[in-house]
Amino acid sequence: MICYYNNSFLEKNEIKVSPFDRGFLFGDGIYEAIRTYNSNLFMYEEHLARLKRNLIKININYEKIDALEGIIYELIERNNFSDNEVNVYLQITRGESFPRKHEFPAPSVSPTIFVYALPIDTKKLQNDEGISIILKKDLRWKRCDIKTINLLPAVMAKQEAVLQQAYEAVWHNGNAILEGSHTNFFGVRESRVYTHPLDNSVLPGITREIIKKLCKNLNIPFVEQPVLVAETNLYEEFFITGTTTEIKPVIKIEGEILGGGKPGKISTNLIEAFTELTKNYYGN
Ligand code: PDD
Repeated sequence: MICYYNNSFLEKNEIKVSPFDRGFLFGDGIYEAIRTYNSNLFMYEEHLARLKRNLIKININYEKIDALEGIIYELIERNNFSDNEVNVYLQITRGESFPRKHEFPAPSVSPTIFVYALPIDTKKLQNDEGISIILKKDLRWKRCDIKTINLLPAVMAKQEAVLQQAYEAVWHNGNAILEGSHTNFFGVRESRVYTHPLDNSVLPGITREIIKKLCKNLNIPFVEQPVLVAETNLYEEFFITGTTTEIKPVIKIEGEILGGGKPGKISTNLIEAFTELTKNYYGN
């Protein structure tokens, strides 16, 4: 498989990352996950805008950012993935500098960029039957709006979910439900969709934005207020969203079955609208 690393397209086994790369030493970098529908990068402008905002937030200057779209399509072509849908992973770190020092290196140090694309098994995707989640007290840092590659809490929580045969671990702060380890979280109460407002405790998900738009189209009130842990019993439905996850209805929380173990009406309507949108997607 061919990947893009710094200025080259290289066979994955040929890529050598320096142990002095700040991504390796400090987790000093950010990433994006994007996917295609009908071979078009879905919501590319929005992903690029978030990437640019994240670079500014952590003070990395990556000058070639506007060339990335072409690089991604070239990567897909070079791998002969053009007939598949793909997931694209893109990471930018602050680059390599020696010796290890916390403060930023000289401006002459270039960021490290890594991109790869992987075909998606579209038959396996979109689990409309529903998934299980566990709830976890949030133990991440206080800038979850930044898509950092520093994902140790997410890795730990997701592993715990998997060990409990759950799809996702969802963070709460002792009171409000925030988001999943790699997804945004939504509740449906009296036919209104609730989700945590955009602040430093959640990632501004691109799929979350789509949910907001679809709710508007379907005349479903979209309320940016969190679901409270103590009030989950007042909700009819829950679902999670993400680029690779799409929309997945939640039918079990902490082992407790919800809605008779079947996806709710609003989740199902949103999945249908999302499927329609992506089926007809041919670029921004
Ligand atoms: N995860 N919240 C968190 C913490 C995430 O990591 C993600 C994305 C989301 C959903 O964002 P979006 O709709 O823009 O994908 C919410 C990516 C897909 C990942 O970790 O692979």
